[in-house]
Order: sequence, then C-alpha cells, then structure tokens
Amino acid sequence: MTLTFALILVLEAAGPEGRGAQVAPQDRPDADRYADNACVQCHRNLAGRSAEIVDLEWARSVHHDHNVACDGCHGGDASLTRDQFPSDEAFKEAAHLARNPEFLQLHGGEGVFVSRARGRSISYFCGRCHTEIMEKHLGSPHGNFGDPSCLYCHGRGSHAIPPATTEIIDTRSRLEGGRCSYCHQASTMKAVAEIKDILDKSAELIDSSAAKFIKLEGMGYRNLALSDLHHHTAETHSRLRRVFHSFNRREINELARSIDNVAKQTNSVYQLVESLRQARRNQTLIGLGAVVFLLAFARILVYYKAAFCEHPDRSEAVPPSTRGVEKHE
Ligand code: HEC
Ligand code: HEC
Ligand code: HEC
Ligand code: HEC
Ligand code: HEC
Repeated sequence: MTLTFALILVLEAAGPEGRGAQVAPQDRPDADRYADNACVQCHRNLAGRSAEIVDLEWARSVHHDHNVACDGCHGGDASLTRDQFPSDEAFKEAAHLARNPEFLQLHGGEGVFVSRARGRSISYFCGRCHTEIMEKHLGSPHGNFGDPSCLYCHGRGSHAIPPATTEIIDTRSRLEGGRCSYCHQASTMKAVAEIKDILDKSAELIDSSAAKFIKLEGMGYRNLALSDLHHHTAETHSRLRRVFHSFNRREINELARSIDNVAKQTNSVYQLVESLRQARRNQTLIGLGAVVFLLAFARILVYYKAAFCEHPDRSEAVPPSTRGVEKHE
C-alpha cells in the first residue's frame, strides 16, 4: 500500500507521452520473398509430394511468414543459381551438399521409423531454433516417452504449422475423435482441461491488465516495473507458452500466479487512481456541501450555547467540603 501511495505521487509529476505506430515485418507487402531461394523454386516445380510440401503446406505455415525457408530447417545452400551449373542434377547436388545431418537421421536406416526415436529426433531438429521449448518438452512425460512429438501437436502435415493456440489441447473424448484422448483416459483429460483453463485465463489477464495499465499511463501514471511488464506482453505470453511444454503443473501454476499478482497490483492502482479522479471531479460539489454543512453546524452551536451554556457562574460553584479535602493533600 505504501508503494502504491508513493506511485500515486508520481501521477501528477509526469505528462503523457506519445507512442509511435510500427509496421510489423510480416505486414509489409511483398510479392515473393523467396524468388531467389533455390530450394523453394526448384521444389515448387517438382511433381507430386514436393510441390505439395512447398505450396500447400509450407507456404501456409508460420515459418513461411517468418522467413524460415527449406534451408532454415534442412540446411543446404539456397543462394545457388541454375546458371552456375551444367545441369539440373549438378545444381541439385550442390544445393543439397551441406544439408543437416539431423534431417538425414529422420529418414535414416531403411526408411522404417521407430516412433520413439523419431519423436525425440524431431524435438532436436525443431530445437535448433526453439531451444527452451525443446528442453521443456524433452523433460516432460511426452518428451520422455518420445511421443507425441512437436509435429503431432503442431503439424497439419509435416510442413503446415499454423500459429500455436490452446485449441491444440483437445479435451474431446476418444469417441469424439479427441487427439489427446487417443492416448489418455478421461481422468487425465480432466487435468488437461484444467491446464488449458489456466493458460486461457492467464493469457486473458496479461491482455486485460496491460489495457488497464495503458489507460493509467494515459492519465499520467508512471511505474517503471509495471510498465516493463505491460509493454512486453508478447514476451510474457511467450514465456507462458514456452513453460507450458514442461507439462509440470507446479511450474505452470507458479507462472500463472505471478501473472495474477501483477494483474492484481495493476488493478488496485487503477481503482485508487480512479477514486482519486472521482474525488477530484466531485470537489466542487463537496466544497458546496461542506459550506452548507458548516452553516448548519454553526446554527446548532448557537442553539446549544443558548440552551445550556448561559450560566458561567455554575462552573465555579464547588461544594465547600470538597475544597477542604483538596487542601489536605
Ligand atoms: C535443382 C532442383 C533442386 C534444388 C535446387 C534443391 N532440391 Fe531438394 N530435391 C530435389 C529433388 C529432385 C529431390 C528428390 C530426391 C532426389 O533426387 O534427391 C529432392 C529432395 C529433397 C529432400 C528430400 C529428402 C532427401 O534427402 O531426398 C529434401 C529435404 C530437400 N530436397 C531439401 C532441399 C533444400 C533444403 C534445398 C535448398 C538448400 C534443396 N532441396 C534444393 C531437387 C532440388
Ligand atoms: C520448420 C522446419 C522445416 C521447414 C521450414 C521445411 N521442412 Fe521439410 N521437413 C521437416 C521435417 C521435420 C521433416 C520430417 C517430417 C516427417 O518425417 O514427418 C521434413 C521432411 C521433408 C521432406 C521429406 C518428405 C516428406 O513428405 O516429409 C521433404 C521433401 C522436405 N521436407 C522438403 C522441404 C522443402 C522443399 C521445404 C521448403 C519449402 C521444407 N522442407 C521446409 C522440417 C522442415
Ligand atoms: C502436447 C502438445 C505439444 C507438443 C508435444 C509440443 N507443443 Fe508447442 N505448443 C503446444 C500448445 C498447446 C501451444 C500453445 C500454448 C498456449 O497458447 O498457451 C504451443 C506453443 C508453441 C510455440 C509458441 C511459443 C511462443 O513463444 O509463443 C512454439 C514455437 C512451439 N509450441 C513449438 C514446439 C516445439 C518446437 C515442440 C517440440 C520440441 C513442441 N512445440 C511440442 C502444444 C505442444
Ligand atoms: C530455422 C529456425 C527454426 C526451426 C528449425 C523451426 N522453427 Fe518454428 N519458428 C521459427 C521462427 C523464426 C518462428 C516465428 C517466431 C516465433 O514464433 O518464435 C517459428 C514459429 C513456430 C511456431 C508458431 C509459434 C507461434 O507464435 O504461434 C510453431 C508452432 C513452430 N515454430 C514449431 C516448429 C516445429 C514443430 C519445428 C520443427 C519441425 C520448428 N518450429 C522448427 C524458427 C524455426
Ligand atoms: C502418443 C500418445 C500421447 C498423446 C497423443 C498425448 N499424450 Fe499426454 N502423455 C502420454 C504419456 C505416455 C504420458 C506419461 C504417462 C502418463 O502420465 O500417462 C503422458 C502424460 C501427460 C500428462 C501428465 C499426466 C499426469 O498425470 O501427470 C498430461 C497433462 C498430458 N499427457 C497431456 C496431453 C495433452 C494435452 C495431449 C494432447 C495435445 C496429449 N497429452 C497427447 C502420451 C500421450
């Protein structure tokens, strides 16, 4: 409360400041960002599965939108051009030359997949960029078991990876075709629904609390610690989403609680500032009320004085015997 009060004092000190609008990189118009990418262009024109991977899956994925092309995951040299080589075959070989060994492992052996090994190698593959998530996932019951893999939860086909949402946490029953129920009993699905609820509520709180804080700032309120949190909501969202992969209830709950605390702190400041503003708005009215009240009070005082305080001599009238006792002491 002391902190809150100190913060209120800052309220009047600082003035509101403007925030400039920014255009996110993915919102900038571009025809074909990948026109010079050898992998995309050659694979797009190959028959069958390859073209499907490029235009039906990858082109609609988050990776396409965030400049992660074939070479980002598979390695190889995407900057080569056809005119540097005598044949398509030589071009392909050169482009493929430095591909990642991890990927080759995925398709290693006789092309027969052992699901355990496959699940964990996918985690390592994706973990080259999503390191923390890989660590949390590998430490979770799922990562330990080797399944479900990153792709089981995130992929619609091996390359169509849409933005992640809590919808992936599918609470439907086995009969309804729920994807988590494929391996889990109804009892585990209750725990799953709780986790989903915590994630959804926390995400909502991050946004509503930030909106409140922005309003506070509009009123001139300043608080560095809260500002840091509320102006980096994307990072807070991301932290929550990364931690989720541990499937560790204690870890998830702890983060959810700290988000809740920040929201509560913001809310109490908000209410205080609101009531302060309300009080100020009512100041004129209160002033007028006070005058009326004081006038009335003054009249009562006059009445009291007239009724009970008209005999000042009585206070002097002390019985003689009492006076005598006092003198002895
Ligand atoms: C000139 C055409 C061409 C270029 C350029 C090319 N590829 Fe390929 N790629 C192919 C063909 C054809 C195949 C089918 C298998 C084969 O013949 O090797 C293939 C197969 C693949 C496969 C399937 C797995 C495998 O090992 O066979 C992957 C993954 C792949 N390419 C990735 C890439 C990446 C990444 C790049 C860019 C660095 C790239 N390719 C550039 C033509 C090309
Ligand atoms: C986000 C990482 C990622 C990107 C980006 C990516 N791939 Fe892949 N690719 C994978 C993974 C993982 C597999 C193995 C999937 C499996 O086995 O289910 C794979 C498999 C493949 C295969 C094997 C056949 C198949 O059906 O899965 C080909 C061919 C391929 N990729 C080509 C490409 C091409 C061409 C691009 C660029 C348009 C590309 N990939 C972009 C991760 C990626
Ligand atoms: C059991 C299903 C499951 C598995 C397995 C899984 N994820 Fe996720 N992932 C999710 C869900 C659900 C979310 C969204 C959580 C939310 O919105 O709160 C998510 C979110 C993400 C995000 C967004 C993180 C951010 O910063 O916003 C990325 C990236 C991601 N996952 C990558 C991976 C990778 C890489 C792997 C494997 C190492 C993996 N996931 C394994 C379910 C899964
Ligand atoms: C070359 C680096 C790289 C690799 C390898 C990679 N990703 Fe990503 N991924 C990114 C980038 C960059 C983004 C966009 C920024 C972000 O959300 O982190 C992204 C975004 C995502 C998202 C969406 C997150 C969101 O905010 O909604 C998911 C899900 C995801 N990746 C899953 C995977 C999976 C599964 C694999 C392995 C098959 C993989 N990624 C491999 C770089 C990579
Ligand atoms: C391929 C099978 C498989 C799939 C699919 C699967 N899981 Fe699991 N899950 C497991 C295994 C194995 C364990 C570890 C043993 C256990 O606790 O049952 C586990 C454990 C869990 C736990 C911990 C249970 C506990 O009591 O601590 C949760 C929560 C969980 N999974 C959620 C999910 C969610 C959410 C999905 C869907 C996105 C999902 N699982 C999909 C196999 C699977």
